[in-house]
Amino acid sequence: MAKVLPPSRSTADHTRVDHASQILKRFYIAERTLMRTFAAWFVGTSQWDLKRQLSADLWQTAQHADSLRTRVLELRYPRRDVDRKYDADVLAFMAEIAKASDTQEFIAGVYNVVLPALVASYHAYLDRADALDDAPTVYRLRHILLDQQAQIERMDALVTSVHPTERPSDAQWQEYLYRWLDSIGGFDGLGEKSARPENHICAGRPAYVVPRTVQRDARWRPALFHLPHENKYDKAGIAAWKRIEALDQRVAMQVWSAISHFNEIWAADVPASIMWELENETWAFYLDLARWAWDETRHSTMGWRALESWGWDVPDLIPFAYATYNALGSVPPIQRLALLYFYEEGLLRAGTKQIEIKILESAQDDGSIQDMDYDWADEAMHVNFGYTWLKHLLGDDQAGREELKRLTDEARQIMADFVLAHKDDPEAQLAPYFDRLYPVVEKMIHDIPDDQLNVQWAPVVADEAVLEEL
Ligand SMILES: [Fe+2]
Ligand SMILES: [Fe+2]
Repeated sequence: MAKVLPPSRSTADHTRVDHASQILKRFYIAERTLMRTFAAWFVGTSQWDLKRQLSADLWQTAQHADSLRTRVLELRYPRRDVDRKYDADVLAFMAEIAKASDTQEFIAGVYNVVLPALVASYHAYLDRADALDDAPTVYRLRHILLDQQAQIERMDALVTSVHPTERPSDAQWQEYLYRWLDSIGGFDGLGEKSARPENHICAGRPAYVVPRTVQRDARWRPALFHLPHENKYDKAGIAAWKRIEALDQRVAMQVWSAISHFNEIWAADVPASIMWELENETWAFYLDLARWAWDETRHSTMGWRALESWGWDVPDLIPFAYATYNALGSVPPIQRLALLYFYEEGLLRAGTKQIEIKILESAQDDGSIQDMDYDWADEAMHVNFGYTWLKHLLGDDQAGREELKRLTDEARQIMADFVLAHKDDPEAQLAPYFDRLYPVVEKMIHDIPDDQLNVQWAPVVADEAVLEEL
């Protein structure tokens, strides 16, 4: 007979390091795929309020995946296999959630099934976990739970206002996803596995493809461009803009910066689409692109907030454009990234942000100054993202640099050809917008002491010939 003391305490099942790290890796894969799926559906969603939340939740989900990934690495230290051999069950289930037939269905699936199931799995983990032994996981999961519960509540309120009627098809989709999740034993894989719902009416849909063309919110009229620097052929639009400019350079900058911020949503669509299209990149790539996509949505929201704060009927007065994303719809993801980098890098190199802030300071517009200041801070980071990841994708050598230049020049040419092909479309004409906007602006302006502001400002453009006209 051997001799022992009684156990110091009892422990729950599935809580040894090996098992905990296996479960956490499943959670990581789920969050990582959810992040990419949010990115894809962010692009596929036009309703402005829903699109903003999808973008915020995309970035938060990237933080959750990163936190779980770090913990898996700690628990498996020094093994670095967190990004190898993903659990096939989790991947297969997560691929289904992207196959929703529209935004409303996608949201029903994610916010009524996927996120609540993740919340339940994290609570179950916390109930099992030893708060001392596994304290770093407990900390991480508690913080993720705070975010996810808030995400569910926020979306619930939003959906009720945007889509007040529930459709039977959404309930069907949710039921399908519930059954799928049961078939893999839940996110932690500890549940009893049932049969896959292969004969369900929602089964067998093709894999989701991120849209190569986007639409903007149906409350706005379709618009290809948002400011006159994008379409040099729109002489009437340029003339209509110049009337606003003639009111005062400061007024023009207040209006210009708000409209151009609002329209930066295309710069969010680009990295988000790439996150879906490039599937097996290194983790830091997705983390940076998730931030990039969310920042540009924030910049867009800054513009929208300023326009709303002036009390303007934004859908009536402000174009919400889609040409930049759609013109590049057919080019490879890396080339879209190259053009985005061209704009961002050009803005910082030309010192455009500093000049814009100077003019806004002269206008004494504290809100617009602060928006531009934070935008500038974000943009400096984006230039670094672009530099890092284009170098990673193209190679850090002469051939890589030449290829970047070729891709950028070609993308600028594609944009120029698109403008030429669509220059006479009714959707390409900006004069009606600025003609409606002019009296609204004129009625609101007031006098302040003249500080003798004397700065030259020009926007960054893909086609430099445009600047001669402005
Ligand atoms: Fe931006
Ligand atoms: Fe940016």
